[in-house]
Amino acid sequence: MAGGTYAGDVTQRLPSAPGDAPEPQPTHEATTHGVGPHPEPWPDDPRLDPELLANGDTRNVVDRFRYWSMDAIVAELDTHRHAFDVAIENWQHDLNIGSIVRSANAFLAGTVHIIGRRRWNKRGAMVTDRYQHVRYHPDVSSFLEAMRAEGRPVIAIDNTPGASRIETAPIPERCVFLFGQEGPGLTDEAVAGADGHLEITQFGSTRSINASAAAAIVMHSWVVQHADLP
Ligand SMILES: C[S@@+](CC[C@H](N)C(=O)[O-])C[C@H]1O[C@@H](n2cnc3c(N)ncnc32)[C@H](O)[C@@H]1O
Repeated sequence: MAGGTYAGDVTQRLPSAPGDAPEPQPTHEATTHGVGPHPEPWPDDPRLDPELLANGDTRNVVDRFRYWSMDAIVAELDTHRHAFDVAIENWQHDLNIGSIVRSANAFLAGTVHIIGRRRWNKRGAMVTDRYQHVRYHPDVSSFLEAMRAEGRPVIAIDNTPGASRIETAPIPERCVFLFGQEGPGLTDEAVAGADGHLEITQFGSTRSINASAAAAIVMHSWVVQHADLP
């Protein structure tokens, strides 16, 4: 997306009372935190977006990316993305997918794969999907075939029979974590076709944790085993 239109895109204008000037309203991308217009003279840096410099930057980005264009941020993230990908089965429009994408961005996953329906609820993603590479696969078999072709081991994540504990198992550095949906969990086809199968150990009475919570724990487990911490 062109950074030039960005600041305008993130703010809805809603009138508060007849005759009042419209107030900018926070949207999913615009937070109440941020920075105002950059004092002049502006830095001579092609990564900076003139419209953000002029209007301020209230996007949901870490401070070091303030005023950067979206394209420049994605290009910078691409230079050091982690070796794990994330995949989600999407048969019922699961609301968790947005939060999983947001965690994938926070933990710097390589690519997010969505298997099944192309439409997914982006609300929980807080616009992080635009900084992420997202690939679509029509079904489990084409996803497994694509991963096999690029030599990326598929690790099924579900607390179903045959799983090893993620707390003690070595996690391959290069891999793709495959998550199921609320309700049905991972399909049998997905578990059978995977190269590994891990579960998060639970101690209480509930059968499972929320899929996006599980995804965040799994990505962080990868970070604990493999990431270079700054
Ligand atoms: C809410 S669970 C539903 C299925 C679950 N197996 C059951 O029996 O209720 C949805 C997804 O969250 C993830 N998940 C939830 N709890 C997990 C756990 N303890 N270990 C690994 N994955 C889990 C899995 O990817 C699962 O497919």
